Amino acid sequence: MTRKPTAYWDYIKVEELLALQRGLESSDAGLSNDEVLFITVHQIDELWFKLVLRELVTVRNLFATPPVPEQALASAARGIRRMTQLISHVAGHFEIMETMTTRDYLAFRDKLNPASGFQSGQLREIEVLLGLSDVDRIPLGHEHSYMSALKNQDGTPSSAYQRVAARLEDKPTLLEAVSDWLYRTPINGSTPGDAGDDAKVAAFIEAYAAAHAKCANEALAIAKSSTLTPSDVERLEKRYAGEIAGARAFLLAEDLDVDAATRARVSRQRAALVFIESYRELPLLAWPRVIIDELLAFEQAFVIFRQRHARMVERVIGRRTGTGGSSGVDYLDQTALRYRIFRDVWAVRTLLVRQTELPSLANIEAYGFATAT
Ligand code: HEM
Repeated sequence: MTRKPTAYWDYIKVEELLALQRGLESSDAGLSNDEVLFITVHQIDELWFKLVLRELVTVRNLFATPPVPEQALASAARGIRRMTQLISHVAGHFEIMETMTTRDYLAFRDKLNPASGFQSGQLREIEVLLGLSDVDRIPLGHEHSYMSALKNQDGTPSSAYQRVAARLEDKPTLLEAVSDWLYRTPINGSTPGDAGDDAKVAAFIEAYAAAHAKCANEALAIAKSSTLTPSDVERLEKRYAGEIAGARAFLLAEDLDVDAATRARVSRQRAALVFIESYRELPLLAWPRVIIDELLAFEQAFVIFRQRHARMVERVIGRRTGTGGSSGVDYLDQTALRYRIFRDVWAVRTLLVRQTELPSLANIEAYGFATAT
């Protein structure tokens, strides 16, 4: 059977697409250019969110099915990189939005009330699937939770509510899946379940903490060698002592209020992060290290998106209350500051030491190098 030749307009649904920028009206003919821009940018951003979600599900599924094949890590890295590009583009759109002045926006803003980007079900899905926990969320500023903001005016669940409710059941989160993958990382050739694994991990942590303390003390000596007042010296000594104690406590997961089994698990994940970053030249660690870097780049892009949105909002509406009822810019700035998923990946940057100071490796052959003869 021969197939009918495809036309661009049939495949892309151009006419259907162009009919969607009318807001509450039957057509966009009577709307100002600013309002059509406002609707269009939001629609484009929702489409980018849709693509982010697709990549996110694929990457999460990959990490959620152990063992993660080495060759699959390259496609996971590509998926995360695409997510980063998409979110960076969303942030870039705020520049176009800023061609709209405060007065232009005020001309149609009241129509929206109480609608708000706070009701973007897809953004919430992305956050939930990444692993942002409900306890970490910043309240909108009135009595309702982010879920109740997704209900219709009559209290019935909207399609956005249903999407997010389904996503809350869709486990594991990417954070959980990646953490489990990290937990299984061989440290000095030893994997969980191997005889003596706990002792080998503990020995690595102590050796690493000692290397970190040595580097921190050297940096302190250099800082103290410049002319300083006694109170400056005291301040610096305190700061470096805090860094040294903090690094060891972090690696042992002593900063967490959790049971002993969870502490041991998190400690091993953190040790794995340091191990991968430190010995990234080993063939078997090269891709894991790329994954960690891509996750960091993605989260950085996400934070920049939140910050950029807040600055655009400040420019267009100042510090007035948002249509969704939040404190507006203050609320958005808090989300940029506090919403982090891959906290440990960030935290490890503070701990890394010069390559020449790294503890020596054991069982190098487990990572793809031939044993020396
Ligand atoms: C003139 C343009 C815009 C203004 C004045 C504005 C303002 C605001 C304000 C004040 C909030 C806080 C919630 C509230 O009280 O309403 C908010 C949230 C939000 N906005 Fe915008 N916004 C604009 C454009 C956009 C665009 C183009 C997007 C596209 C992605 C967007 C996405 C969001 C999202 C996802 C939230 C929820 C953030 C969160 O809860 O973490 N906004 N917006």
